[in-house]
Amino acid sequence: MGIQMLSLYRRHRPRTFEDVVGQEHIVRTLRNAVELDKVHHAYLFVGSRGTGKTSMAKLLACALNADDGPRTDFSPEDSACKAIANGTSLDVVEMDAASNNSVDDVRELRENVVLAPMGGGRRVYILDEAHMLSTSAWNAFLKTLEEPPPHVVFVLATTEAHKVPATIVDRCHRFDFQRPSLEQVASVLRRVAVEEAIEVPEPALAMIARSATGSFRDALGTLEQLVTYGGNEVKLDDVLEVLGVADAELVLETAESLVEHDPKAALIAVERLSASGRDLTQFMRDLAAHLRHLYVVQTLGEVPDSFSVTAGHTERLSSQAGRLAHGEVLRAIDLLAEALSAVKDGSDPRIRLELALLKAVQPQADLSLQALMFRIEQLERRVGAAGASGAATELGTGGEEAPTDAAVASAIKSGGTHEASAGGSGSARATGARTAASAAAPATAQAVSLPEDAAPTAAPQIDLERVRTLWPAVVDAVRVENAMVGALLGEARPSALDGDSLTIDFPADAEFSKKKAESNGALVRTALRGLTGHALDLQYNLSGDHPGASPTLSEDELLRRLREDFGAKEVFDDEPPSEED
Ligand SMILES: Nc1ncnc2c1ncn2[C@@H]1O[C@H](COP(=O)(O)OP(=O)(O)OP(=O)(O)O)[C@@H](O)[C@H]1O
Ligand SMILES: [Mg+2]
Repeated sequence: MGIQMLSLYRRHRPRTFEDVVGQEHIVRTLRNAVELDKVHHAYLFVGSRGTGKTSMAKLLACALNADDGPRTDFSPEDSACKAIANGTSLDVVEMDAASNNSVDDVRELRENVVLAPMGGGRRVYILDEAHMLSTSAWNAFLKTLEEPPPHVVFVLATTEAHKVPATIVDRCHRFDFQRPSLEQVASVLRRVAVEEAIEVPEPALAMIARSATGSFRDALGTLEQLVTYGGNEVKLDDVLEVLGVADAELVLETAESLVEHDPKAALIAVERLSASGRDLTQFMRDLAAHLRHLYVVQTLGEVPDSFSVTAGHTERLSSQAGRLAHGEVLRAIDLLAEALSAVKDGSDPRIRLELALLKAVQPQADLSLQALMFRIEQLERRVGAAGASGAATELGTGGEEAPTDAAVASAIKSGGTHEASAGGSGSARATGARTAASAAAPATAQAVSLPEDAAPTAAPQIDLERVRTLWPAVVDAVRVENAMVGALLGEARPSALDGDSLTIDFPADAEFSKKKAESNGALVRTALRGLTGHALDLQYNLSGDHPGASPTLSEDELLRRLREDFGAKEVFDDEPPSEED
């Protein structure tokens, strides 16, 4: 059966209260009001686009104007209801405040409301986009809204209730329309497809429902577009084409490569994606949305209804969520966000996607401080878990090789710039390396292997001296992440350590540096934690407000720093200036 004149969503507007999907609380209240003859003279319907506000207003008008009404069990074939559905009823006036929002429009309305209903029922005024009325129009409308003739019912519909004056809201019975769930949107699509003899496979239907983001109208609009595009037999590929979304299967597969820490599978997925000609940036967004779903499933411990319609998809979501660490999901989302913003700045989407996936799939390939911190957390989690189960020797690092002592030590020393090659398993040793680095030799980490049965150890005690020794490595680590903050931090010195509270002193005139360091506190804290194993609270001071702790640089120190940090060269009075001066 071909597409007829009216658009699909208008042809399939709910024609009885039973047809309404969801919005149970509104349907019941309106039905009761009609049955108990307690219909209010003004209603305010609030809800996002395509959630059924206009449809519900028409149903209320049908109930009030149906033959032998008011009645809630009216037949859609009832002449009055048919006229209301077609928009030809003389007793139901639909106004769009987007185009009729002036005082004159309201004046005309006021003159109109006194007219008696033609059909003997009620005159129902449906004012869509009500929030578009001008203030003076609202003022002109107020009295009429408050005390309309008894045969009048106003229904104001809006997506933006906050723009409707409180004086108006107070005089209305307000209903908030919920955004329909994926399953509810899918059920309307299924119903309409059957009535229109349109064949749509479930996965395609799920995708249409998801892309509609809670609007019945948009979902039906997409279905109509697909039928125009490919006829009454809708194929999954058509949906992908028309919606330009990445193939859900490909998103799941790519996420699976993260679960399996399988760089090869990740690259194959990108290869398939670019061979399919799909929009890579859209794919990154869809993958990030999928990862967010995984994160929510991990947090809730179940797959919320709004996430999926097909049992298969629900299963795969919870299976992946169960096999990925919380931190890994967050990190992958971060990496994708980074890739998306790089693409916005002109980077090649394919390279950026591959890079993000490879970093996410194998944290050891990513030497950023975040990646290091992430791996230390993973190791600590495993050490903690192994300690709890008394099986220290079983420590795994989630499929990746535990970094060698040298690799971790050099990565810590260089703040993540040197290649940390993976070699030899046993995270205990890796953990040992980190704590040893913080406990033993100054500035550079020394590898110390813990005896096999050693219980997982808390970070060794530290003192101010130790922190001062590690300070250059802290500054380095921060500089890797943010060169400016690193440079400014170079001026500061740890001046006091009280328990886990560390005071950092800046020279008296370095107000700006101090403020900058404070606003990047998380970066400094992470670097300190990476090197000392302690989560320290940081206080920042300008020296001189911290009696006896001001670390003024000796002349030698100053000269050495000028030479080292800024490549300064000493010139003597009698020396002629060189070429480059
Ligand atoms: N609860 C529902 N049950 C079934 N179908 C619905 C429902 N709500 C909306 N629809 C479908 O979506 C279409 C659009 O709904 P409607 O015009 O009532 O939305 P609306 O909330 O008034 O949107 P807008 O804010 O854009 O005016 C309807 O024609 C109908 O096909
Ligand atoms: Mg509407």
